[in-house]
Amino acid sequence: MERSVSPESNPDAPFNVSNTLAPPRVNKAAGTTNVTFDGLLSDPLLLKEDLKNGCGGQLWPAGMTLARYLLAQHASDMSGKTMSVSPVEIGAGGGLVGLGVARGCEFASPIHITDQLPMFDLMQDNIQLNQLGTKVKASILDWGEPLPAHIPANPDIIIAADCVYFEPAFPLLLSTLQDLIGPNTVCYFCYKRRRRADLRFMKMAKKAFDMQEIRDDPNATTYNRENIFLYSIRRKTPKSNNELATK
Ligand SMILES: C[S@@+](CC[C@H](N)C(=O)[O-])C[C@H]1O[C@@H](n2cnc3c(N)ncnc32)[C@H](O)[C@@H]1O
Repeated sequence: MERSVSPESNPDAPFNVSNTLAPPRVNKAAGTTNVTFDGLLSDPLLLKEDLKNGCGGQLWPAGMTLARYLLAQHASDMSGKTMSVSPVEIGAGGGLVGLGVARGCEFASPIHITDQLPMFDLMQDNIQLNQLGTKVKASILDWGEPLPAHIPANPDIIIAADCVYFEPAFPLLLSTLQDLIGPNTVCYFCYKRRRRADLRFMKMAKKAFDMQEIRDDPNATTYNRENIFLYSIRRKTPKSNNELATK
């Protein structure tokens, strides 16, 4: 299938950056939302949203995009026996993506959804609301801090949605990705580009990791228009270094 060039790989892309400061502060009332990811879940997810403890208390478009992609394209390969180590989600907010894939996939071991302390109760509430306590564990993982002992250092899968928005946190996020990404890890990473600083993060990340824009999502053209981009991130290998050197 022929695909148009995404704005992310377009050299003019920096001119598309929106001026919106992000994530925007919204006075959204607390409540519970019912989510099926466009029918990908037959048993809907109930998500409590509450912004009183931080921006992670609501659902973000990059999270919706990533959950839809993972459920549509990777539910079977993420499920089951081949995965030796529990998946880890970072910057999970209320747990939108991790809970969504936990509902739609059969992991061999529970997925860890992680965020900072202020999000902990919301993650726990959402796990309970969906009776996913055997499949999902909530933990505190502050970027840039040593990984908690129970979080696997090199999981097969890492999930990160809408984690690029606060410039002082960029080096911390990179450091946590360095700690987590092992030789067999793939990190599914979805971000919404809101300002020029976000491109600086991507530049640093491309230096540190093998980052590939994901091309097998038929919905990409739609979300690319909203400056949402999906990447896989892997540890650099001698092969990926050589390929880069010849580019
Ligand atoms: C925009 S929200 C995205 C939430 C969720 N992933 C989604 O897509 O709906 C970004 C999340 O990153 C978390 N975060 C920001 N800085 C962090 C840090 N230094 N360590 C851990 N998490 C952090 C925030 O608490 C917040 O929940």
